[in-house]
Amino acid sequence: MKIGTVKEIKNQEYRVGLTPDNVKAYVSHGHEVYVEKGAGLGSGFSNEQYKKAGAKILNSAKQVWEKVDMMVKVKEPLKPEYKYFREDLIIYTYLHLAADQELTDKMLKSKVAGVAYETLIEKDGSIPLLVPMSQIAGRLSIQEGAKYLEKRFGGSGVLLSGVPGTAKANVVILGAGTVGENACRIAVGMGANVTILDVNLKRLEYLDHIYGSRIQTLMSNDQNIENAVKDADLVVGAVLIPGKSAPKLFKKRYLKQMKAGSVFVDVAIDQGGSGETSHMTTHDDPIYIVDKIVHYCVGNMPGAVPRTSTIALTNTTLSYGLQIAKYGLAKACKKNDVIYSAINTYKGKLTCKNVADSFKGYKYTDIKELI
Ligand SMILES: NC(=O)c1ccc[n+]([C@@H]2O[C@H](COP(=O)([O-])OP(=O)(O)OC[C@H]3O[C@@H](n4cnc5c(N)ncnc54)[C@H](O)[C@@H]3O)[C@@H](O)[C@H]2O)c1
Repeated sequence: MKIGTVKEIKNQEYRVGLTPDNVKAYVSHGHEVYVEKGAGLGSGFSNEQYKKAGAKILNSAKQVWEKVDMMVKVKEPLKPEYKYFREDLIIYTYLHLAADQELTDKMLKSKVAGVAYETLIEKDGSIPLLVPMSQIAGRLSIQEGAKYLEKRFGGSGVLLSGVPGTAKANVVILGAGTVGENACRIAVGMGANVTILDVNLKRLEYLDHIYGSRIQTLMSNDQNIENAVKDADLVVGAVLIPGKSAPKLFKKRYLKQMKAGSVFVDVAIDQGGSGETSHMTTHDDPIYIVDKIVHYCVGNMPGAVPRTSTIALTNTTLSYGLQIAKYGLAKACKKNDVIYSAINTYKGKLTCKNVADSFKGYKYTDIKELI
């Protein structure tokens, strides 16, 4: 199969769909790989590295789109890319179609096959291509929180670990899933006092088992949250109720009870936010202050560390990509039926139920009727 990747054209997006190591893997399995010149520079991969790995470098995105059977990307295609859609093309990337009716229409009309990272569901119910981004956002939440506690950003001027003879900072994490667990790991590592809350006792038991007396686990309810955040220097919003907007656990009235200059990092902002005072911010302008509490609400946190994010993402996308390349999309589904779940559009039909339910008058077709 001919596989390719292009430079992402979304604002501030520096990740890339294939690393030189990925290229080597595809080439060693007998495939041809085409890379747009400069596609990997934002993640620190040079054209030379891709060439050495066996890729052919093409001067323009147009040339790559027109050449390949499968385009491996990071973000959903944007308007200037719609013209490259065609029936015999597979696009393997984050698609988030439920948020983009125009893109959905273009994909259906062109009959391009859309294979979405975010809907690939493994047999145990996990979504492996989302996990690495949550791991990164969780770990970054503490790094960013520590930075914005600095005085020059409006923070209280507290060092997370403290030093001998001073108090450690109190970190409160709302949600003990992938983001929460990774935030916990870094906060403990930096020497803070950590309290983590969840409604799922199994998650709390798991973290208690790992960290023992180093952390405080608490059932998530209004009273426990209010008590915990009153003394917090840093609060991380890390909750998720799949398919729904995030519950507003961090109430506006808490702000006035907290120490001035404390920081709220709302990782769940991409699902509407877990704070009543949260609104989405960008890497260019990441924070704002409400009632003396610094809010950090960046919707694409992993974009701050594109090199790590690219490598972490492609570590998980490669194995499914290799299966699709080896067998073709239809046969790959028969060999590994979890791949069915990733197909959102196929031969002009909408094959993801959640996407079909998001728009009025769109018909869902079970992919197994088509393949
Ligand atoms: N901003 C970003 O750049 C970025 C990056 C990655 C992930 N995210 C978002 O972070 C959020 C968390 O993702 P995740 O992968 O950790 O999800 P997850 O499913 O692994 O964990 C979510 C946790 O929230 C818990 N929860 C649900 N309701 C709760 C409540 N009322 N109180 C306390 N806990 C509750 C669940 O039990 C679960 O353990 C999601 O919205 C995800 O989209 C954002």
